[in-house]
Amino acid sequence: MLEKKLVTLDEFVLEKQSEFPFASGDLTRLLSDISLAAKIVNREVNKAGLVDIIGTTGHNNIQGEVVKKLDVFANEQFIHALTVGGYCCGIASEETDEYIALDSPHARDAQYIVCIDPLDGSSNIDVNVSIGTIFSILRRKSLTGPCTLEDFLQKGCEQVAAGYVIYGSSTMMVYTTGKGVNGFTLDPSIGEFCLSHPKIQMPETGKTYSVNQGYFQKFEEGLKQFIMWCQEIDDDSNRPYSLRYIGSMVADIHRNLITGGIFIYPATYEHPNGKLRMLYECNPLSFIVEQAGGRATNGHQKILELQPVELHQRTPIFMGSKLMMDHVESFLNDYASVSNK
Ligand code: AHG
Ligand code: MN
Ligand code: MN
Repeated sequence: MLEKKLVTLDEFVLEKQSEFPFASGDLTRLLSDISLAAKIVNREVNKAGLVDIIGTTGHNNIQGEVVKKLDVFANEQFIHALTVGGYCCGIASEETDEYIALDSPHARDAQYIVCIDPLDGSSNIDVNVSIGTIFSILRRKSLTGPCTLEDFLQKGCEQVAAGYVIYGSSTMMVYTTGKGVNGFTLDPSIGEFCLSHPKIQMPETGKTYSVNQGYFQKFEEGLKQFIMWCQEIDDDSNRPYSLRYIGSMVADIHRNLITGGIFIYPATYEHPNGKLRMLYECNPLSFIVEQAGGRATNGHQKILELQPVELHQRTPIFMGSKLMMDHVESFLNDYASVSNK
């Protein structure tokens, strides 16, 4: 029997390039730079318990969170790969306060910018739980020369491509260029991401809700009611649903993308903008979820339609299977007038 031909990520991206008229090949090369850095990060993630790479550096990042060594390593790898590649003119990273304008003669006139969360789920590094990388690629607004802040402050619907890498029981890269979502599993024996999940479609509904329920008392009334509804016994709608919350957004979204479900990181009365960052967490994952047939909002408006006004802006987020999104939004609307403090 003939074996199926392996399709590698690089081959796949190159093949798809022809779907974009006037493609210069720069996006293809950019994705290839990102996947190379991801393989290097993957290697370090896999030996995180063996070498002195885990543990804290003793510094806080600009968001006041403790930075782990692997976060720093991942940040350096992605920035290095994108810098030497020369196919983007700027990078915004969760780990750096300001955006980085690349000024090599090739890079400064490149057409793309990249927003990245180099290591997502960093509190899970030390305990051997899945972590990830998230990236978003935008076309610059400025025409030439060093990139500007305005190049980064674009709505999510302007994204040219977005993706994530999950360092889980296997390592996968999932990405979209706005024509569906495809997933590639890293075959460590050949060091290549191979097409394993073509045309990912998110089920219309699911049995999983993912939220940090420890903060229940801090949520708005509509969300509390939705959570209680998820817990009710009702055979017709397959409830109660299961609560699954890994604490690495990439891993929670990946599971829900494949099996159906809803992920929520809402506002609390102390943090009205929630926790998750728009440019390098919410926008790219919303693009993927929507391309797979799901929906993503801040409770009322589409995430991809929100206009960011600062680099590290946060937003509440609700994302997942269509019908579950409809349910949560109707609870939020019905209880909108109830004060949560
Ligand atoms: P990061 O490690 O990049 O800062 O992201 C962590 C995020 C996200 O991955 C996860 O969903 C969320 O933080 C978990 O936060 P809580 O512990 O507040 O639930
Ligand atoms: Mn993150
Ligand atoms: Mn991070």
